[in-house]
Amino acid sequence: MVVKEILEKVRNKNNEGVVAESWKTKLGFLLAAMGSAIGLGNIWRFPGLAYENGGGAFLIPYFIALFVVGIPLILGEFYLGYTTKKAAPNALASLSQRFRTPLKVLGYLIVINAFVIVSYYTVVIGWTVFYSVMSLFGRLSSDLFMPMVKSGAGLLTGDITSTTVLYVLSFTFVWALTYYILVRGVKGIERVCKIFIPLMWAILLLLLIRFVTLEGSMNGILQYLTPNFAALTNPSVWINAFGQVFFSLSLAFGIMIAYAKYLKKQTISGSYVVALGNSSFELLAGFVVFAVLGFMTSIAGVTLISELEVPYSGAGLSFVTFPLAIQQMPFSYVFGVLFFVLLFMAGLTSLLSLIEAFASSLKEDLNIDKKRIITVLTLIGFISGFVYIVNIQILDKVDAFINYSLVFLGLLEALAIGYLFTKLPKNLYMTVTLKVLAPLLLFIIFVVNTAQKLGYLKDLGGKAVPQLTELNLWAGLIFLIIVVEMIAFAYLLYRHSKD
Ligand code: PHE
Repeated sequence: MVVKEILEKVRNKNNEGVVAESWKTKLGFLLAAMGSAIGLGNIWRFPGLAYENGGGAFLIPYFIALFVVGIPLILGEFYLGYTTKKAAPNALASLSQRFRTPLKVLGYLIVINAFVIVSYYTVVIGWTVFYSVMSLFGRLSSDLFMPMVKSGAGLLTGDITSTTVLYVLSFTFVWALTYYILVRGVKGIERVCKIFIPLMWAILLLLLIRFVTLEGSMNGILQYLTPNFAALTNPSVWINAFGQVFFSLSLAFGIMIAYAKYLKKQTISGSYVVALGNSSFELLAGFVVFAVLGFMTSIAGVTLISELEVPYSGAGLSFVTFPLAIQQMPFSYVFGVLFFVLLFMAGLTSLLSLIEAFASSLKEDLNIDKKRIITVLTLIGFISGFVYIVNIQILDKVDAFINYSLVFLGLLEALAIGYLFTKLPKNLYMTVTLKVLAPLLLFIIFVVNTAQKLGYLKDLGGKAVPQLTELNLWAGLIFLIIVVEMIAFAYLLYRHSKD
């Protein structure tokens, strides 16, 4: 008995096979995974991307990507984390004795990539705090953005204004809260996601109900759903669909591996819940965004959204276009607060997962108390955020680099899981997707991305915006597909919440 206890202690010290932390419930795990997947990209990236890449027709490559790459890979990551009880570096390393070292390096590259994202993701979440505060005090305006991001440079020049102070305070608040949650371990993440995810859905639905009743909203939604099938002959549309699914499901960041390591009971079908929940959220966010853009067309007295000449994706959509539209609504501050709080929660739950992926990897290899690791990472992350605060232009460059390297790391990860992971469920679907289709498609995307970076294939990036025809039967059909998808998600979630 004594020997056993001592052995146990030694194993604990080396972290061999012992995972002290775990999720309280399976539902908690699913909500945390969904919290990671549902991020800023669901709200500000997907809707505009779908619109620019064939409108409703974009759903065809999107769903193909979801079933060919998204679901198999998320399932592979869940399974890998669950069976090895390790985070990405050690989980991947355990797949092959022969390739142990390169696999471990791959695992670390993956989680370091995640931590680089953390450095600027917190800055962006800081913006949502800044905007929430501004909305709360009735000061929301579309002219806030540039002054806000530029005010950071004042830290270097000494030209510190009240905007600078609020900007830095918002950013500091994000890190303080993150630290507060993460030192409480995965149960802290679980608790936050259990509150935030239902709240995020509730706010999204509330915004939806309000915005579809605005004048012109249907015109916007119709342009979002109207398919332009000709777009499907454009390879960049397909590449964008795969890229979106990959990024949106937080794949190849070691996140789903790390989260699954804390699972007590396995949940294979959980990957469907997360995948369908995530895409339901972004499809619905598309309605919210395009209802607002439609409202703007009616105010501007134009028909097409493309005539508006406002950004309809990214930071521009959230921090310039939305404030512009919200300003013109009754009770604008309520909807301002709701929208920016929604962005804040979506961002924060993704942020927690990014840090956890790195922290739990370090914990396994360094034999240092997890709280101390979190403290050090918080300090590093907090300080590195100022690089972007004082010079905002760096953010886009780092982001572009991460998105590029992500595909390459994803490709290697898909190969490792597909070929070396013997415990994967062996069925035709998993074999064909993970061994052949996912690596092949990721390889093609990587080659095209590289060629474009080197200045080739420039004309591949042409936009395929759907032109509005008369009230469109196709749009109705696409609406139906989206509804069916959401019902499937709700049903699966309900079944999972019972065990
Ligand atoms: N999945 C998140 C989104 O769609 C982004 C994200 C990527 C979060 C990677 C964590 C890790 O916005």
